[in-house]
Amino acid sequence: MKSRIIGTGSYTPEKVLTNYDLEKIVDTNHDWIVTRTGIEERHIAAEGEFTSDLAAIAAKRALDAAGLSAEEIDLIVVGTITGDYPWPATACVVQAKLGAKNAYAYDVSAACSGFLFALANADDYLIAGRGKKALVIGAETFSRSLDWTDRNTCVLFGDGAGAVVLEAQDGDAGVLASHLHTDGNHIELLYQPGFGAVYPASAEGLEKRLPYLKMQGNEVYKFAVRMMTEVSKAVLKEQGFRCADVDLFIPHQANIRILEATAKRLKLTDDQCFINVQKYGNTSAATIPIAIDEAQREGRLKEGNLLLLAAFGGGFTWGGTLVRW
Ligand SMILES: CC(C)(COP(=O)(O)OP(=O)(O)OC[C@H]1O[C@@H](n2cnc3c(N)ncnc32)[C@H](O)[C@@H]1OP(=O)(O)O)[C@@H](O)C(=O)NCCC(=O)NCCS
Repeated sequence: MKSRIIGTGSYTPEKVLTNYDLEKIVDTNHDWIVTRTGIEERHIAAEGEFTSDLAAIAAKRALDAAGLSAEEIDLIVVGTITGDYPWPATACVVQAKLGAKNAYAYDVSAACSGFLFALANADDYLIAGRGKKALVIGAETFSRSLDWTDRNTCVLFGDGAGAVVLEAQDGDAGVLASHLHTDGNHIELLYQPGFGAVYPASAEGLEKRLPYLKMQGNEVYKFAVRMMTEVSKAVLKEQGFRCADVDLFIPHQANIRILEATAKRLKLTDDQCFINVQKYGNTSAATIPIAIDEAQREGRLKEGNLLLLAAFGGGFTWGGTLVRW
């Protein structure tokens, strides 16, 4: 028995913010952003458009692709750190918007690794026989957690959502293995300090820009490349594969230099790697499911293909997942 991906969907908001648009907001320029990150544009949610809206559209598209109705879903897990409310979970809002009345729903908070952590959760649930079908979603509206006066961070992120429908099936296709890791000793290298219990909401905190993402980019870069490389090697080795066996590598789309450095260390060719960071920026937990959906629609995923997924994010959290398509 395996958890097989039987439908994919994605959604990015209509509004596109280019690097040239950003030049008018902060002291930056298109060439700097492209050279350092590979990002050319990102999508930004409209006023009144929330993470649950993006997630519900992506999920509906995945359900349609799978030929299922929302009532047939037993579990919804949403990977997000930019949910509609501090609580309850955005997954609850998504459940209501979809009318998935037979599903229980919760969020997974693992930053940019959120989708892989959520996928492993749903896989465990299906393999344990607790349900037959699950929706796994990665969705973010990072534009609302960014300090738009900080050029070090605001140019890197975007909004979007991706979703997959998983079904417990007999056979060889499905999730083969997931390796998940956390090292909580580096929280301040990539986090949102306020407004949780440590820094509750206050005017002073707002002045200090506490409710926005803070990052030490250089340090994060080094960890991201090292951990995504190590976890990819480990999950392949456990399953008896080599890098050359990978048909498609879909890494978390944080930044082109992280992706290229990781692919180089894994000795993967360009043809083995899927990259779309130029169009969306870093959409955190949404990058991998958006990329899976695009790869599927572009015909780059064929039955029997070996798919390697790798992510890294705040926490630090990281993971590697192997899927037989
Ligand atoms: C953020 C990142 C692109 C910065 O690139 P870098 O080569 O490390 O650049 P530095 O931080 O050393 O900054 C170099 C200079 O560019 C400047 N700079 C930073 N952002 C800029 C921007 N948007 N436009 C123009 N200049 C910018 C800095 O102020 C610095 O100037 P200084 O030398 O006068 O102080 C890079 O560190 C990175 O990709 N980190 C990983 C980030 C990430 O993906 N995080 C999410 C992981 S899930």
